[in-house]
Amino acid sequence: PLKAVIFDLDGVIADTAVVHHAAWKQLAEEIGVAFDDATGERMKGVDRRGSLDILLERATRAYDEEEKHALAERKNAYYREQIAQFGPQHLLPGAQAAIASARAAGMKIALASASRNAPLLLDRLGIAGLFDYVVDAGRIARSKPDPEIFLDAARGLGVAPHDCLGVEDAAAGVDSILAAGMAAVAVGDSPALAHADVLLPNVAAFDIAQYTT
Ligand code: BG6
Ligand code: MG
Repeated sequence: PLKAVIFDLDGVIADTAVVHHAAWKQLAEEIGVAFDDATGERMKGVDRRGSLDILLERATRAYDEEEKHALAERKNAYYREQIAQFGPQHLLPGAQAAIASARAAGMKIALASASRNAPLLLDRLGIAGLFDYVVDAGRIARSKPDPEIFLDAARGLGVAPHDCLGVEDAAAGVDSILAAGMAAVAVGDSPALAHADVLLPNVAAFDIAQYTT
């Protein structure tokens, strides 16, 4: 029986997928690396360093470790500049209701975000108190699509993975959920999400009753 729902943050609860995308795009333009929407889509859900490696696939020169570190920091500064202005109005429509309805149905609730900015963002959105467990992204060794982050969330909640449902907007995130042995709900219209168990247009369409009865 379903006992827990594990949410991704960026692009599921917070309207930040576009902010990450814009920050990477700005960096790509500044260093003269080609960047398109398909690249941005592949970077979704992937941690900061993994995203940079995807961006640099089309670089015309090699970057050493020190330079890569500086580039990742630069992107993060652009991102932080934007979310400093964030408030509850940047919750995606229906996100808070989705969490509340899952809790009302007796579910435990966790957050499985690859973002090391997640705690700050939860504070800014005013929803830090809604989760029974928040994964510490800094302690996750293998980025989505590896199952580690969703397995950590299940462990943190004390629920078996097969009694968990994961909610994601990224292909790498859906892969991670499925590899963890959980049911996957994807939100969004990307063709890359077709392997999820359930595909919803947005988080406002999430209805916990469909999975508990
Ligand atoms: C994920 C986003 O949630 O977090 C990615 O989907 C982002 O776009 C990743 O790269 C890492 O975030 P941060 O905030 O630690 O750089
Ligand atoms: Mg996401």
